[in-house]
Amino acid sequence: MGKRIRQAKLYILATALLLLAEQPVLWDLYRPAAAPAGASLPAGPFVALTFDDGPKAETTSRLLDGLSQRGVRCTFFVLGLQVEGNEDLLRRMANEGHQIGMHTAHHKALAGLGPADLSAEVDQLRLTLTALLGPEDYMLRPPYGMISHAVETQAAAPLILWSVDPEDWSDHDAARIAAHIVDNAKDGDIILLHDIYDASVDAALEAVDGLMSKGYTFVTVEELFALRGVTPENGKVYRRLPST
Ligand code: NI
Repeated sequence: MGKRIRQAKLYILATALLLLAEQPVLWDLYRPAAAPAGASLPAGPFVALTFDDGPKAETTSRLLDGLSQRGVRCTFFVLGLQVEGNEDLLRRMANEGHQIGMHTAHHKALAGLGPADLSAEVDQLRLTLTALLGPEDYMLRPPYGMISHAVETQAAAPLILWSVDPEDWSDHDAARIAAHIVDNAKDGDIILLHDIYDASVDAALEAVDGLMSKGYTFVTVEELFALRGVTPENGKVYRRLPST
């Protein structure tokens, strides 16, 4: 999808969501008389699910199946070393409306790297993704959340951290991970998971069901920016995007 079309679609989506979320009276005026029973309207609060370290064929495919069944879009911060052999999986992510971001080529801690190594980790992955998926403003999630002045000035991407971290790698306990997310998520949160573990996929889908039943709508990180009227800036760190 071309950048301009994508931006236009984001704008339309954001406008529609804002109208529905913040102006229920207006929405009531325009509600079709014969709205299908049980149709769910997009409404706040909003959260963004993000997945690092993939893609991985079995687990990421199963996650995409579950998200598709639920009509949920999320954000994948992928590793360059995971791209080869998973090209179709990455195309599927993009085709199904998920956002794809960068998690570096080799999962190195960027904070200790000089300019050439930093470029090899970030710019090379950007080139790989651009060749596969087309030019986009690929956001960056630095491994371990480690950021330095060099990263801020050279990465040429918004730096996306997180505000809810169930530490899904620590015990692979899907029920605990899902409960942590459902209990802690607030409007505007960015939730950190890893799509390389079966338990994390189970937890993600359970948390989606739990939060949707509490009225939450899941959006990609860039959709969350658009909803909040915030333009992502290169080199700036974002942990969550609450409503103002
Ligand atoms: Ni990671």
